[in-house]
Parts: sequence; structure tokens; C-alpha cells
Amino acid sequence: MSRRNGDPRALVQAMNKPVRGSLLSIEHFDAAEITAMLKLARRMNPLKPRPLLRGKRVLLLFYEASTRTRSSFEIAAKSMGAMTTLVLSSGSSIEKGESLLDTAYTLRAVGADVIVIRHPHAGAPHLMAAHLDIPVINAGDGMHEHPSQALLDAYTILRHKKSLRGLQVAIVGDIYHSRVARSAVHLLSKFGAHITLCGPPEFLPELATSLAPGLRLTRTAEEAVRGADVIMVLRVQKERLAGMKIRLQDYISRYQITLARVKMARKDAIVMHPGPIIRGLELTWEVADCPQSVIVEEVHNGVPVRMAILAKALGRAR
Ligand code: CP
Repeated sequence: MSRRNGDPRALVQAMNKPVRGSLLSIEHFDAAEITAMLKLARRMNPLKPRPLLRGKRVLLLFYEASTRTRSSFEIAAKSMGAMTTLVLSSGSSIEKGESLLDTAYTLRAVGADVIVIRHPHAGAPHLMAAHLDIPVINAGDGMHEHPSQALLDAYTILRHKKSLRGLQVAIVGDIYHSRVARSAVHLLSKFGAHITLCGPPEFLPELATSLAPGLRLTRTAEEAVRGADVIMVLRVQKERLAGMKIRLQDYISRYQITLARVKMARKDAIVMHPGPIIRGLELTWEVADCPQSVIVEEVHNGVPVRMAILAKALGRAR
């Protein structure tokens, strides 16, 4: 069950080489793998179930709140005939102090074929993958990555735009705390999109430009959205702001995405947001519901994309 056997060199080796089918980050997923995954997702239709995963057990292990990711992984698994079990940190033995690895071994022992994990700490899925002989899927790890979100966002963009190459993408909001932003930057930059990051210094340190080559940084929302093909709005993550001096009223007046700001983008621009959205904070009610908003479509596309991720993880990608 364990792939480590106590040898630190074996652990490092395992961390670099998780079980085939694991999805831990976009940074280490190459463009050809991303293209193949998106192609597979286009063949997935949750309304026409195919029993690709019949007899397989999908463990959903969530240490943090989730609505979209959790429900779409569950629906994706079930629409391919898999059994699913949900384990939340509250109400499980995690509350009694069980460690991440002991929880992983327990879930493997009850018969998990794949574990989908969301965790507040960066690297938790990697640690789990290094010790298990089954694939692990990162459903969001702290402020690190959210790879399935980046894939569903790319899938959504490509339903509206011919290619990612050359697209002007403005990412506006709390980039520092955002695993969604990190995964999106890695994915979009692999395909030649032009990315502008926008936010106040507390949410966007200068260091962020080192995430990928060619990133542009601005402190002005108007400059970010002018001429954009895609505006990606990020939530202000109040749960991660302890000790930070952010005046929400200032943030709203300088960075909130309003209809006036959307009008500065290209006529056919789309407005994205990974959710959950906080209307009246990072975007207005009107923007959330405007014809250019694809926020609900992103959620919808999460199901076929996560079907593809699970099918690939379990060697049933066809
Ligand atoms: N986008 C996203 O991860 O949403 P949830 O936190 O609801 O899963």
C-alpha cells in the first residue's frame, strides 16, 4: 500500500513520479497532456452515462468547504458508474487527530481506487500521492493549485474562442491567495495567451510575475480589462485575510468589475469567475448576470472535464 518504505530517497523519487493518472498540478502537466484531456472531456456527456468506471470506488476527501468541485466530481464519477464515498474533515476521525497519511492508508484499505482531495495546505495531495499506489487528484491545495478548475476554464474559453494563443486575458482580484489564478497562469501561458494580472499590492506582490514568462502586472483595473478577450474575476478570500490591512470599500471602488469596466474589454469578451461569487464585492450583480458572463457555464463544464480526469486516472480514457 505504501510506496515509501521509510527511505527518504524513495520518497523524493515517488513525489516526482506519482501514480499514473494522478493530477496534482498544471505546472507539471505538459501542453500535450492538457490538449488530450480537453479532447477527452469533449467526448464526455453526463446526460448520456457510459459505465466506464463500473465497479470503481472514488473517495472524495474534503478538508475544506466546496460546492462546485465536490458535487461535480461526484456527479462525474456516478455518471460513469463508479461508487463514491464522501469523507469530510468534520465528522470523521480527522477531528480526532488522525494524520493525513493515516487517513490515506485507511481510505486505501477500505478499497479506494482513486482519491480526490481538497486540503488547506499546499502540497498535501503530493504527499498523499507519494505514499499511495493509487492515483490522487488535487481538488485544490491551499494557495497552491486547483488543476481541475484550470482545465474546465480552458475548456470553457475554447467554447467561445478559437484558440488560447494570443488571447488577452485579464486576471483581476486576490491573486496572492488564489490557487485558481496560479493554475490558470500555468495553463494559459503554456498555450501562448497574454496574461495581465491586476490587484492591489496586498493581493498581487511583484513576485507574482515570476510565475510564468511574459506576465504583465498592473494596479489599475481599467488598464487590465481594456481590449481583453477574457476577464477572469477572483473572489476576495476573506477566510485567508487574517492580519491583512485591506479596506474593502477602497478595493470595491478600484477593482470591482462593473459593467462600465466590462465595456472597456472587446465586444465579444467573456467574464469568468471560478466561484463562489460575492455579488457587490469583486463584481456587481449586473456583471454576474450579463450576457458576457460564463460563470454558470464554467460550473456546468466542470462535470465533463472531471469525467475525463477520473476516466484518465482509472485507465478508462476512451
Ligand atoms: N471553484 C471552486 O473550487 O468552487 P468550490 O470551492 O465551491 O468547489
